[in-house]
Amino acid sequence: MTDALSKTLNDVIDPATGATLGAAQRVGGVDLRDGVATIVLRPGPPGEDINALRAAVAAALEGRDGVTRTRVIIETQLSGAAKAKPKAPPAPVRAPARRIIAVASGKGGVGKSTVAANLAGACVRLGLKTGLMDADIYGPSAPRIFGLSDAPGLRKTDAGIQPLEAHGVKLVSMGFLVGERDPVVWRGPMVTGAIRQFLNEVDWGDLDVLVIDMPPGTGDAQLAIAQGTPISGVVIVSTPQTLALDDARKAVALFDRTEIPILGIIENMSFFLCPHCGEGTEVFGRGGARAEAELIGAPFLGEIPLHPELREASDAGRLVASGDGPVAKAFLRAAEAMLLNVDAAHRPAPDIVFVS
Ligand SMILES: Nc1ncnc2c1ncn2[C@@H]1O[C@H](COP(=O)(O)OP(=O)(O)O)[C@@H](O)[C@H]1O
Ligand SMILES: [Mg+2]
Repeated sequence: MTDALSKTLNDVIDPATGATLGAAQRVGGVDLRDGVATIVLRPGPPGEDINALRAAVAAALEGRDGVTRTRVIIETQLSGAAKAKPKAPPAPVRAPARRIIAVASGKGGVGKSTVAANLAGACVRLGLKTGLMDADIYGPSAPRIFGLSDAPGLRKTDAGIQPLEAHGVKLVSMGFLVGERDPVVWRGPMVTGAIRQFLNEVDWGDLDVLVIDMPPGTGDAQLAIAQGTPISGVVIVSTPQTLALDDARKAVALFDRTEIPILGIIENMSFFLCPHCGEGTEVFGRGGARAEAELIGAPFLGEIPLHPELREASDAGRLVASGDGPVAKAFLRAAEAMLLNVDAAHRPAPDIVFVS
């Protein structure tokens, strides 16, 4: 089935050059799953109209060979610079901020992105110049959380890739490169390559803190990122449930292997904070993460309540930590503890030569 697809794809006329994609050898890969065709194309001429190309591919493929939707990924957006000079040694990874803090979790859905975004917002409130790199390439959520889902893509100037800015936080996200509704499965090296590019090529300016929203999990991809990135310390997000705590423990073990200091564990959805009466209800048995932190000798950074405002705010592009109220205070306290610990660990972010 993919053969028929490849053939159709090879015959698509590239609007930029008038040549077929096949003749221009631009087709890097095709994958068809549940009616969604994911097409990886090699870099085209500089400044090509990617939307026109996407439209041409969609027009040729959709409705044929079982394709209901197409997703076009241009490799150049991720690794064009690296591809252009294959013989050059990998550039050393720059540390664009005094403190680079990774926010990680053993698995998805524990609120890692929500916590990362609000910790960044809290850092702004504490007077720090703050950036957020959404490295959760499997499910970028910074565009939604910061209300930038419809933002134009990232611009590149002589100074580098320009981050977007919302709620005082400088932002880059893979979600600004591929549509938010198009989840993409990246291969490990591509993920690390993209992160390296974000560190090296984004015009971050002079940051006090860069928060990295890491991909969830404790596998090879996470290890490669941790090893290839000059991270000053890591914050692990967990929920109080036992299963999530098991995953948190794995995340701690992963970062221990890399000798990256664990700044602490944050318990998210710790207890239900009723928006009407302000009373707390311990839905999952609060305090599991605190006990777990003690057990494994990691600092405990605080509890973030389960509060409908957090989800509503995220969906509306508001940042709870920028406001007042009890949830904002919880984030401020956690951010203060996190900053104290990173400064205590006092590990100036080293320049690392990236080996892919
Ligand atoms: N403390 C919380 N209270 C209420 N909803 C939350 C809380 N933390 C996260 N959420 C919601 O849970 C969902 C998953 O959170 P998200 O941050 O995307 O998780 P992850 O990045 O770990 O996959 C989102 O809809 C988010 O708004
Ligand atoms: Mg996430």
